Amino acid sequence: MAYQNLISELKENILYVTINREKALNALNKDTLAELADVIAYADKTDEVRGVILTGAGEKAFVAGADIKEFSDYNGKQGEDLAKIGQNQVFNAIENSPKPFIAAINGFALGGGLELAMACHMRIVADHAKLGLPEVTLGLIPGYGGTQRLTQLVGKGKAIEMITTASMITAPAAEKIGLVNYVVPQPDLISKAEEILNLIKQRAPLAVSAAIKAVIAAVNNNNGYATEIEAFGKCFETADFKEGVSAFVEKRKPNFSGK
Ligand code: CAA
Repeated sequence: MAYQNLISELKENILYVTINREKALNALNKDTLAELADVIAYADKTDEVRGVILTGAGEKAFVAGADIKEFSDYNGKQGEDLAKIGQNQVFNAIENSPKPFIAAINGFALGGGLELAMACHMRIVADHAKLGLPEVTLGLIPGYGGTQRLTQLVGKGKAIEMITTASMITAPAAEKIGLVNYVVPQPDLISKAEEILNLIKQRAPLAVSAAIKAVIAAVNNNNGYATEIEAFGKCFETADFKEGVSAFVEKRKPNFSGK
């Protein structure tokens, strides 16, 4: 797929998506958000895609936030629309995707950039990266789900501290508070994400999607236990359940079909 602001490549069932606006530190303008919405929809519906690695071009920034220059003359209604459309089409779409998304944070993840990383199902961060939600320095608050997802990930106290002080934190500090899964040296960033997705690729695809859905239901207060019960039951109807159990009994590796 050819995009103006993204590089997207499917290799060995992993979709690599790079936000490619390096001169603007990969800031999210409207066009980039629209392209992200498109690539997420592609990942959702394409069986060959077993997981997505989302990163930013260069080594300076993952994403330095929403494009500040684009909304500098917005009024309240336009601001609300920006948040609503962005949340629905990109941030919530990633979180609700049946495919696991990993953010490979290669540098600054600020504002909408950290919000994008937090919408992903897992986060790996390069050891030089800095993370923060600096919106209050602009007279704003996070609008792409940051107040909710940061609170879910690190708890109310740390979330309020980070958002109201606008302080950036280091990669090790982010790992310590549970904001990221792993800190690695920059050269190992993509291979660490691949290591995780290569394990997931060996598992039953529908069960992986069901597990993500149930976990996300928990953090979004969306009938988590009931979601789990229903998804658990549906797994018994899959060919992959039969295959997984047969493989166990026959002491061989399962060959999942995703059906
Ligand atoms: N939007 C638009 N352009 C941006 C940008 C952003 N969020 N962040 C950086 N850029 C641009 C700069 O304007 C600059 O462009 P020019 O060369 O044309 O002037 C270029 O990227 C390089 O940036 P700097 O010169 O500022 O680089 P630096 O090394 O001095 O500083 C930085 C790096 C600390 C990340 C700094 O760029 C910065 O603070 N950026 C803004 C971070 C921010 O406030 N993000 C939150 C945005 S609001 C938001 O995201 C709202 C929401 O929740 C929906």
